[in-house]
Formats: sequence, structure tokens, C-alpha cells
Amino acid sequence: MVAPHNSASSSTASSARTATGRMAAVQGMTRLQRELFELERAFVATATSLVPRVGEPELKYLVCHHVWENASHGRFLRERGRELSGFGTDDTIRPSIWRVFIEAAVAPSPAAALAGFYRVLKPHLLATYRHYLEATHHLADWPSRRLVEEFIGDEERHATEMETWLEDSAEITAWCEHLHAALLHHTEPNAFAADFAWRQDSHPYRHPVTCNRGPYPLCSSVFEQSADDVAPIVRDWLEDPQTDARIIRIMIYIWLMMELDAVDYLATVFIETPTAPFDLHHDLARHLWDESRHSQFGFRQLPKHGIDLMTVEHSLDLYHILLQMPPAERYAMMTMEFEAGSFPTKAHIMDRVRELNDFEADTLLAFDRNDEQNHVRYGHRWLPVIMEVCGHNEPVETFVEKTRQHFAALAKTHGGQTPHSLSPAERLTGAKIRAMYS
Ligand SMILES: [Fe+2]
Ligand SMILES: [Fe+2]
Repeated sequence: MVAPHNSASSSTASSARTATGRMAAVQGMTRLQRELFELERAFVATATSLVPRVGEPELKYLVCHHVWENASHGRFLRERGRELSGFGTDDTIRPSIWRVFIEAAVAPSPAAALAGFYRVLKPHLLATYRHYLEATHHLADWPSRRLVEEFIGDEERHATEMETWLEDSAEITAWCEHLHAALLHHTEPNAFAADFAWRQDSHPYRHPVTCNRGPYPLCSSVFEQSADDVAPIVRDWLEDPQTDARIIRIMIYIWLMMELDAVDYLATVFIETPTAPFDLHHDLARHLWDESRHSQFGFRQLPKHGIDLMTVEHSLDLYHILLQMPPAERYAMMTMEFEAGSFPTKAHIMDRVRELNDFEADTLLAFDRNDEQNHVRYGHRWLPVIMEVCGHNEPVETFVEKTRQHFAALAKTHGGQTPHSLSPAERLTGAKIRAMYS
């Protein structure tokens, strides 16, 4: 049966109004889902700035893990949101949200920054999810409800996992109050103080000039070509068939632990590219979490092999050099040079380590290799996009070549600037690793 057409005067505007009214129940929930997507996206883009600021590797790993889960939430929300009427087709974060999250990133200290994200912004995200669950219909909106229930579980776990890392001080209390007041800018504009003093206006966001490694000793590089009394990884030994495979296993674990430098410099790319497609940030978040897992491979295995981590200096050269480059160059060096160039040496190392019948080592190295293959794929996919976002118009090959030259030039002035924290007698060196197995 065809419904009678009973109105000759229906205009486009009034039929649009009718359609809006008809779908009001859906659109109310879609608006909330859109807001949740933007909150998740803003968290990923700004909480990553915590990574180089906080010092303890365990804390860096935890932030990277949370950021990856929040990026996944964003992806699922956007997928579900696009099934609903009115979610929108772009990935943009509205200015009222972005301003608050940038404010969180300009906190006066690493401890205040961590507290701002985890005592103010994450609880706001969790409260918004809980509100969604109360406001929606359990059966009509079942697909969203299932997601939201799972994300609430993740957020509650994040809060528990971070609890022991949060500190208390007068500065932190004041900063959290400040950020609560800033949040009103987005949540209750009528209650927002007209004379609110945004810290970002007087202290614009800047990356830390060096990355924090907490109590661990520092150096410029953990690699040496042949000298055995300077650094723990002696490149010539990795290639030499006479080298005991147990020495190579220790060296690759140090190499993996030092991927913490990739964690620190990759984390800086997000906040500088807020207009990038969300899918780029999603894959960067995965990349970040992968590198922090690789670093954990070394961080967790070395003590099991008798290495005191307080004798292993952390190398800061790559952070110091790459931070002088724009984000697209940073990403190009990482994916097109360091990662793409690491496969032959790592393949040889894997073959040597397999002599030891150490199943766990073989497993860690195999997953590392698989992840790295994905990272190079990410690089091919996203480098042209990040170049466009950052206004680089030349062909990709030209850009990569120019970037290599830029890096080499910067390495002369910004590399080798971090003195050894420990004397040769105190720090782990190639000679000491050899002595462990002689
Ligand atoms: Fe890695
Ligand atoms: Fe990688």
C-alpha cells in the first residue's frame, strides 16, 4: 500500500525538520558518541606528550598501552557512529575540546601533567561513557551499548593501573583545579570563568628538549663499531661468526630496550599533527605501543640474564637529533631509514640466537621482526599523508633523500652531546658482556 500524499505544501525545510524530529532519539545518542570520539582522539593526540616527559620506563610503557587502547576506542566509536544518522564524515576535534586537552599538555611539571590527564580528563571521559550508558536504550542501541560497556571497563582499569604513579603536592592539586575550571569551557560554557587564564597562552606547548629517563644513566649512543670498552653493543661482534651467541643475545636485548628512544620521539609526532586523519594517529598509536613492547623485551629479559639495569646507559642521540627536524622528517627517518634498514642485521642476529635453543628469545625476536615489517608498511602508507599535512610538496623519494642529508648534518651538531653518566669501570661495555661468558 502506498501512503496517501496529503500535503501539497511540503517544502525541503519542513521535510528536513520532520526527518530530524523522527530521528531525534538516534541523533541525541549520535551527538554523544561524536563527543566521545573527539575526546578519545584528543586524548591520543595530547597524552602522548607525557611519554618523553615522564622518566620511568614502566610509566612510559603504561601510557603507550593506554593511548593504544584509547585509539582503538576512537576507531570503534567512529565505525559505530557512522552507522548512525548525523555522526559526520570528518575526524575533526572541535576547538572547545582541543583547547582543554592542549591546556593539559602545558602543565608546569611532568607529575602535574600526568595528574591532569588521569585525575581530570580521563575521569571526565569515563563519566561521559557512564552517562551514555544511562541515557541510551538497552535494546534499541544495543551495538553501541556493548562497546561502551567494554570501554568503561578499560577506563576503570586504566585508572587502577595509573593510581600508584600519581603523586600529590600543592602544585598538582592547584593544576587539577585549574584543569577542572578549563574543562567548563567545553562542558558548561555558561559557568566558564570569563577571566580564566589559559596557561597555553603564556606557555605554548613545546616538546621537552631532552627526554626523561628517570634514575637511569645516560649516554649519546649504545653502539660502537669495534671498541669494546665504550658501549655495550659492538657492531663488528654482531657480524663475527666467532662471537658467542650468548653475547649476541645480550646485545640484541640492549638494542631492543633502547627502542625506548623510538617511543620518546614517535610520541612527539601526534600533538604536532592535530589535523591529520584519525587513521594516521590510530596507526601511530599502534606503532608507539609496538615500540614500547619491543623496549620491554629488553627491559624485562636483561635482569634475568644477570644484567643490572642501573649499569646500562640510555642513549639520547636520536631524540636530540630528530627533535630538530619537522614531524614528517622524523617519521621518514624512522620508517624509511632506521626500520627499513634494520632487517639484514636483525636477520643475522636471529639466526645466531637460534643456536641457543632459547624459545622465548626466538619468539620475542620473531614478533619484533613481524612488527617492524608492519611499521615499514605504515611508513609507505602514511609518509605521503603526513608530508601533505605538514605542507611538504615534493615527491616522496626526494623528500626522503633530503631528510637523510638533513639528519646527517644535524647529527654533527646535535649528536654526541650527552656525556656518559658512568665511568668505563661502572657502565656495561662489550668487554664486560664478553667476560660474563668466558
Ligand atoms: Fe621496534
Ligand atoms: Fe618499529
